[in-house]
Amino acid sequence: MCGIVAYLGKKPAQPILIEGLKRLEYRGYDSAGLGLINGSEIKIIKSSGRISVLEEILGEPDPKEVVGIGHTRWATHGQPNTINAHPHLDYTGKIALAHNGIIENYSTLKTWLISKGCTFKSETDTEVIANLIGYLYSNTDGKDCPKDDQNRFEWAVQHALNELVGTYGLAIICADFPEMLIGAKKGSPLILGLGKNEYVIASDAAAIVEHTTQVIYLSDNEMVTITPQGFHTKTIDNVEIHKELKQIEFSLNAIELDGFKHYMLKEIYEQPKALGMCLGGRLDLRDNRVVLGGIGKYWREFTRSKRIIINACGTAWHAGLIGEFLIEQLARINAETQYASEFRYRNPIIEDDTVVIAISQSGETADTLAAVEQARERGAITLGIVNVVGSTIARTTDAGVYLRVGPEIGVASTKAFTAQVAVLAMLGIELGRRRHLSAEQVRCYIQELSRIPSKIEDVLTLSDHIKKIAEATCDRENWLFLGRGFNYPVALEGALKLKEISYIHAEGLPAAEMKHGPIALITKGMPAVFIATKCSQYDKIIGNIEEVRARGGRTIVVANKGDDNIRPYADFLIEVPEVLEEFQPMVTVVPLQILAYHAAVLRGHDVDKPRNLAKSVTVE
Ligand code: G6P
Repeated sequence: MCGIVAYLGKKPAQPILIEGLKRLEYRGYDSAGLGLINGSEIKIIKSSGRISVLEEILGEPDPKEVVGIGHTRWATHGQPNTINAHPHLDYTGKIALAHNGIIENYSTLKTWLISKGCTFKSETDTEVIANLIGYLYSNTDGKDCPKDDQNRFEWAVQHALNELVGTYGLAIICADFPEMLIGAKKGSPLILGLGKNEYVIASDAAAIVEHTTQVIYLSDNEMVTITPQGFHTKTIDNVEIHKELKQIEFSLNAIELDGFKHYMLKEIYEQPKALGMCLGGRLDLRDNRVVLGGIGKYWREFTRSKRIIINACGTAWHAGLIGEFLIEQLARINAETQYASEFRYRNPIIEDDTVVIAISQSGETADTLAAVEQARERGAITLGIVNVVGSTIARTTDAGVYLRVGPEIGVASTKAFTAQVAVLAMLGIELGRRRHLSAEQVRCYIQELSRIPSKIEDVLTLSDHIKKIAEATCDRENWLFLGRGFNYPVALEGALKLKEISYIHAEGLPAAEMKHGPIALITKGMPAVFIATKCSQYDKIIGNIEEVRARGGRTIVVANKGDDNIRPYADFLIEVPEVLEEFQPMVTVVPLQILAYHAAVLRGHDVDKPRNLAKSVTVE
């Protein structure tokens, strides 16, 4: 939620900030703004709407403006209008900052600051931070603050941050120090990119990779002060710290559209390759085992655990549900999937042999992170299944498995989902191997998993056919998605995809549950998507299809290639290759992603930036 980018170097900052904001726009797109240092003044330009709107009101870049901050917003406090857009200036006009996160005690601080004579223009929690820093910076009398001005600015920032309850990623500039930039982090991501004579701070490496691949990931309660002479990292309690230099592992190419109309479409099509990268080097057919180096010494506890709790949100939660079934089926360990937002508040029971898995594409989802922290506090071993390298959840968990699918930019998650399921399948196989599976069973599972990328390749050839189905049905405002067993979470995911980007109301259900209420919704012509591939409950789902057809529903059926038996039940048939029941979700979800994509495009929506949504939800 919200993207921050900041620059200090020798080049004009404006185009660099705009380019960076465009790379972060998936994090929020309701308003945007820049703050640039010009001489001893701060120039703020901001507007509601997308970055393209901001660009229209910007003048030519000024070569003297070589330090600046930028922000793209997803509103939490206050409407998405120009006044509430970031950066925010303090009441003295000297301090400007861009913020990602939420300040929970902003109301108390605001009342106090008003009593001290500070004035406010916006409804945001962020302006409180600007004013608090500004107030401390301008009122140091009697306080034990450093005498020189430069340190006074840093001191004011530190003291203000220590008063904040909540989360922040911050980029801060001060008119008195035209050659200084401060970044700080707690709960929201912040990365420092180290270029040649230039520095870029950003919420995500995507805004940095164009300039440098050398980065430092700030941890919570840390800050960085940058000048042309160099940078230093400290805690917000003023303790110097040494941070390790890391390398960004993806190229600029990975975040370009590469000829595709939308990132979502590109990412759908990337799935065979992405899964190949995810599985690559991990399926050891020679020794008949799965190699997941990030689990290391925790395999022992994992294998012996009596209960595995999976925590996630959104699409990752659907992957988790499939993971629950996979772990139960392959490893025979009790598994359950929880919404991270519920788990964290429900006084969960964690015993010595409980393992908690967190699944998150971004590695920054606030509720998932809080669930991990809660589990750790209660003594659980935690495992992260994360895509973004170096993200907070990746660093907070004891062990982990990266998805290795490259950046996912489309707000509606696609390739991360199939990779999350692939990782859970690998976990299930390896746990099963260590517990009870025969060598033959392991071989069969590993071989089948290695074939999934090419099966997805087959499904991608169906795009034109699926588009025709979308054309015939996307005018309907209510849809059902139904599946059983391993395909039940796929039904949930199919419905979510359609809702997210086409704004059609869709409900995903275990097919048999339809009879307990939702069947009342079926009217003539209502689209009902069934995932009815060959599986243990195949006959049952045919029965469910009949129930819908008997009530006039229009069926879109995802079935196996060559399954002639199902033809009479399908108004529209989507034929996918056959795979083992346990691994079907990675194949059956793909036509539903494509269906949602075409429906959204046909309805004229911005697929990559659906209304009200953000890719990375760093607020509760
Ligand atoms: C947001 C996104 C979803 C995503 C969910 C969890 O709601 O729009 O696509 O599934 O967050 O995100 P995570 O990064 O934790 O997987």
